[in-house]
Amino acid sequence: MDKKRNIIVGQSGGPTAVINSSLAGVYKNAKERGFHKVYGMLHGVQGLLDEQYVDLSTQIHSDMDIELLKRTPSAFLGSCRYKLPEIHEQPELYEKIFEILDRLEIETFIYIGGNDSMDTIKKLSDYAIVKGHSQKFLGVPKTIDNDLALTDHTPGFGSAAKYIAASTKEVIRDMLGLAYKKEMITIIEIMGRNAGWLTGATALAKTEDCDGPDLIYLPEITFDMDKFLAKTKELLQQKSSIVIAVSEGIKLADGRYVCELSGGADYVDAFGHKQLQGTASYLASYLGAEIGCKTRGVEFSTMQRSASHMASRVDVDEAFMVGGAAVKAADEGDSGKMIVIDRVADDPYMSAAGIYDVHRIANNEKMVPREWVNEEGNYVTDKFISYVEPLIQGDYQPFMVKGLPQHLVLRKD
Ligand code: F6P
Repeated sequence: MDKKRNIIVGQSGGPTAVINSSLAGVYKNAKERGFHKVYGMLHGVQGLLDEQYVDLSTQIHSDMDIELLKRTPSAFLGSCRYKLPEIHEQPELYEKIFEILDRLEIETFIYIGGNDSMDTIKKLSDYAIVKGHSQKFLGVPKTIDNDLALTDHTPGFGSAAKYIAASTKEVIRDMLGLAYKKEMITIIEIMGRNAGWLTGATALAKTEDCDGPDLIYLPEITFDMDKFLAKTKELLQQKSSIVIAVSEGIKLADGRYVCELSGGADYVDAFGHKQLQGTASYLASYLGAEIGCKTRGVEFSTMQRSASHMASRVDVDEAFMVGGAAVKAADEGDSGKMIVIDRVADDPYMSAAGIYDVHRIANNEKMVPREWVNEEGNYVTDKFISYVEPLIQGDYQPFMVKGLPQHLVLRKD
């Protein structure tokens, strides 16, 4: 009897507003290409090791469900931050994974994730080659941080950037309404770990009806507390309300994260990443004490990666496209690769799916180029803005029920 053509797909790392659009792209394309079953790993490869998976046809029943999935934030299947050990460290883990894949008659394994998750694709595809397994392993890019190498940008970034720019505009308006005979400073903290793409996106708030943030500090530039204080004081001579955007990952010259000054980086994940949190509130207290005015620290926190009500249409569509492209690539014989987004044209903006060897992508971090930050190191340049602007265009209206967005929920019965 012929072997079944089944696919298994998993989601890994920090979620985004559009990670499920990629899942929808995988599912729809797999069905159109005649794959028999599409399984979903529950909580990525960590859940798979515990035999946690689901047949997606029990979850997605119609085109309407596909549309709902595209509008559902967070990882529908559940995510994980799990680092596969090196093959020689725990070969039995790899044997277990391949035993499960063989049993489920999996032909293609697709992982939707960022640079840490691509490490999983790299290791599993290497193992398959060494041991002569026939399964194909493909990566689908995902991260709000936009720090994956070789892709113009990552799905998830555009929607987070849109939310961040819109919310920055709203925070600025809120402050302007209250800044009467009173000095006020608001510090907004943005995610992105060691890459400043998202923090730079606050510059998009500068529009005909808004001046945008006054200062923007990216983690690519060493943060100097004295210069920061001096610059803020200088600005207060010109205006009474100031909004400053800082990345959660800004670091001092001695290599410490600013958030460590407040003891805010104790937790370390499987990939050795410290949890970065508390930069804005630390800097707000610092300026409050030094200057003696009202200050506030605002963290956009998980809202910036889960705000699917603010998703960018470009982002949702591209996330769907790369999911489908991974299925196509595997079907045509590719393995050990990640789908990338190529920017084909700027005006009008157009993109297409490409593909690269995952060994060139896994565990790398793509930073904002120095020339896209101004000389003083406290704002982004027009080039940065032209790069991001096309990615936040269009919207994807949620399906509203009782005044709130409706989501597709995993049924475990
Ligand atoms: O990797 C995406 C990301 O959102 C980073 O920007 C952030 O530092 C990290 O995840 C936070 O992860 P967690 O929610 O696991 O603390």
